[in-house]
Amino acid sequence: MKKIAVIGAGYVGLVTGACFAQKGNTVIIVENNQNKISQLLQGNIPFYEPGLDLIVHEAIKNKTLIFENNIAQGLSHNPEIIFSCVGTPSLPNGAADLSFVQQVAHEIGSLITSYTLIVNKSTVPVGTADKVKNIIIDRLVQRNLQITFDVASNPEFLKEGDAISDFLVPDRIVIGIESQQAADLLYALYRPFVKHNDQILCMNVKSAELTKYASNAMLATRISFMNQLAQLADKLGADIEEVKLGMAKDKRIGAQFLNAGIGYGGSCFPKDIKALAYIGKEVLFPMTLIQEVDNINHFQRVWFINKISTHYGPALANKTVGIWGLAFKPETDDIRSAPSLDLIDDLITRGSKIIAYDPVASENIAAHYGNAITYAHSAQQVIDQADFLVILTEWKEFLGTKTDSFSKLKDKVIFDGRNCFNPQVMHDAGITYTCVGRNSVTEQTSKPKPARAELCRSIEAYDRN
Ligand code: UDX
Repeated sequence: MKKIAVIGAGYVGLVTGACFAQKGNTVIIVENNQNKISQLLQGNIPFYEPGLDLIVHEAIKNKTLIFENNIAQGLSHNPEIIFSCVGTPSLPNGAADLSFVQQVAHEIGSLITSYTLIVNKSTVPVGTADKVKNIIIDRLVQRNLQITFDVASNPEFLKEGDAISDFLVPDRIVIGIESQQAADLLYALYRPFVKHNDQILCMNVKSAELTKYASNAMLATRISFMNQLAQLADKLGADIEEVKLGMAKDKRIGAQFLNAGIGYGGSCFPKDIKALAYIGKEVLFPMTLIQEVDNINHFQRVWFINKISTHYGPALANKTVGIWGLAFKPETDDIRSAPSLDLIDDLITRGSKIIAYDPVASENIAAHYGNAITYAHSAQQVIDQADFLVILTEWKEFLGTKTDSFSKLKDKVIFDGRNCFNPQVMHDAGITYTCVGRNSVTEQTSKPKPARAELCRSIEAYDRN
């Protein structure tokens, strides 16, 4: 077992530290926000992540998880490996802000007294490990110290809402290393997390740094591709959900990250797509496809909001708009780059009243908007008080709603940014239902029911005989 320091108790740092501790390592988490540490020591996790509280409580109880509020205190435990999990937010030009990463490197270079492996786990631009290494070398020279150290890249692939399972049962571990010592340390640390040793991919540091951006960009590209295809489907009279099923059966395509909707949000895709585009610009190789992925994502949100304003026009000023879902995705309270922020801003500008419900993210929205909007305690309360409904996050509790529950919705109008319901069922229930890439289905039902339903039944009947 190892003694590990983790710098930063955010989504990545806290999950990383807790899961390493669960495997029996001793982990020191360094967090400079003392209030956050006090909360954690009382067993309160400062954000919603299913299952994280149990693992943190267990590790604190077993004394395998220790908290310190500065790097000097953290390194006084002589950790062999230091994971840097600090934030790399977007700068106005889209570049990643490395000031926190560089600050950590400076402090580490000022404090280490023996071999230490420093691991960048935050998403950082290609070449950051070299920058970290040079900062540490400079500090060691200034301290007139001759000690060896390594800097490795070990990007994280956890999804918010699934963070624990993503960390404990990873598809793969990517480690970018430059020495056998670093490779051996990280291999031994991660081997207990994987079934097969070929899931631990050793590569050069720059490849590991780029793999993170490449993976997120691929996932975001799938989403923007489906969203652009959904716009085409609406113009052609196709149903994007059927098209998705038709595509997903191809093993080379698969079913995940093909859901059309209002587009991606969160703290990663928007930031990482912009950062990758910027990395391309920096080396005079514009990543035009990635730029278009970002443009499509932006368009999807504008298109959806325009659908609402076009439907109601100036009457929006006198409407009470119901919103289901404020978080950027289900199973998280994170509202960073969430579609709800753009929609609420637009509706407030138009003078609409807003009543919103989210199972866990209302508090974070309230920190932004205060009493400018009303926060409902249930999805049904929104229906009871709103003129029409906008769905922005596909929380499981919304998906089972029966159409007669919507009967109290004054206008019987729903704009669904996450394709939660069947347009034909909604249409048959007398609801004006707008979604993404399936709207022609509603128009079709005003004509004779398509033979498709009978045809599919006859295929199933054929199988039964
Ligand atoms: C993402 C990556 O999945 C993860 O590997 C990386 O480490 C961090 O960034 P996260 O942003 O937490 O994780 O959530 P994710 O489940 O990827 O969803 C991102 C956004 O894409 C959400 O807004 C979600 O609503 C949207 N999305 C996802 C779609 O619009 N369609 C889909 O099919 C899937």
